[in-house]
Amino acid sequence: MTNALPLPRRSSQVTVVGAGNVGSTLAQRLLERNLADVVLVDIVAGRPQGVALDLSQAAGSEGHNRTIVGTNDYQDTANSDIVVITAGLPRRPGMTRDDLTQVNGKIVVDTLRQALAVSPGASVIVVTNPLDVMTYLAWRVSGLPPQQVMGMAGVLDSARFQTFIAWELGVPPQDVSAMVLGGHGDLMVPLPSYTTVSGIPVAELMPASRLQALIDRTRNGGAEIVQLLKQGGAYYAPASSACVMVEAILRNQRRILPLAAHLTGQYGLEDLCLGVPCRLGQTGIEAILELSLTPTEQAALERSAAAVKEQLQQALALLES
Ligand code: LAC
Repeated sequence: MTNALPLPRRSSQVTVVGAGNVGSTLAQRLLERNLADVVLVDIVAGRPQGVALDLSQAAGSEGHNRTIVGTNDYQDTANSDIVVITAGLPRRPGMTRDDLTQVNGKIVVDTLRQALAVSPGASVIVVTNPLDVMTYLAWRVSGLPPQQVMGMAGVLDSARFQTFIAWELGVPPQDVSAMVLGGHGDLMVPLPSYTTVSGIPVAELMPASRLQALIDRTRNGGAEIVQLLKQGGAYYAPASSACVMVEAILRNQRRILPLAAHLTGQYGLEDLCLGVPCRLGQTGIEAILELSLTPTEQAALERSAAAVKEQLQQALALLES
C-alpha cells in the first residue's frame, strides 16, 4: 500500500501576451479569481518578470495558490489552454483605433505565431486594437477553426452601456442587461431593444433623449478615458471583460456574450470579424445568435461592418511579409 496522493489534475493555463496595463491587470484577475495559472510574456526584458514576482507575493494575502511566470521566451508558454493577446500600442489622445492597424497588426501576427507554435490547440482571445481587424488577422494567421479565435469588445462596450444605464436609473449594474453589437469603434451599435433592466425594456424607463445620450457616451467610452488619463487607455474594465470570456471558456459556462466572431453570412455579412452575440463555452464559440434587427439597426451594423472591412485590406498585406 502506498500513501502517495493521486497526481493533481493539470491546472488550466492562460498565456497573456503583453505585460502592459491590460495584460497585468488581466493576469491579476485570473489569479485572484482562481481561474488559471498564468504565463505573462512580453518583449521588454524584466517587465513581465517584475509583474509576475509582484503578483506572486500577493498570493498569500489574496488566498489563492495559482502560479504566474513572467518571461520573454515563448517556450515558457507551452501547452496553454487560452492565449490572450493584449500586446500593442495604446491609443494616444486624438488617435483613432484605426490608426493603429499597421503597427499593432505586425505585433499580433508575430506574437501569435510564436505563441501557437508551442500551444497549437489553444483558443485565442484578441484584445489589441483596432479590435475587429486584429481578430480577423489573428484568425487568418492562426490556422485555427473560427470558433477558437475571438475578439473582446462587445463585453466591454455592453459593460459601459450597463454602467451608464445603472447610474441614470439609480439601480445596481447587475440588474442591467445590455447588448452592443458591431465593431469596437465609433460606429458600434448599442441595441436598446435588447437592453433590459430586470426584464423591463430600457426605453420604458427613461426619455428617448436620455437614452440617446447614454448610447453616445457608450460609443465614446474608450476615448473618454483616453482623454482623462492623457497617457494610454482604459484597462480595468477591458481586463474584466477579457476575464469574463476566459472564465466562460475554462468553466464551460456557455454564456451568451457579444464578442468579435468570424461571420459567414450571419446578419448578411461575411468574411470579417465583428461583434455579435455568441454562446461561449469550452470549445469556444458554440453558436452565433442572429437577432432580428430593425432596418435602422441593420443599416447601422452594415455601416460598422463596412468600416471594419475597409481596414482589413491594409491589415492583410501584413500576412504577406
Ligand atoms: C477601450 C479600448 C480598450 O475601448 O479599446 O477602452
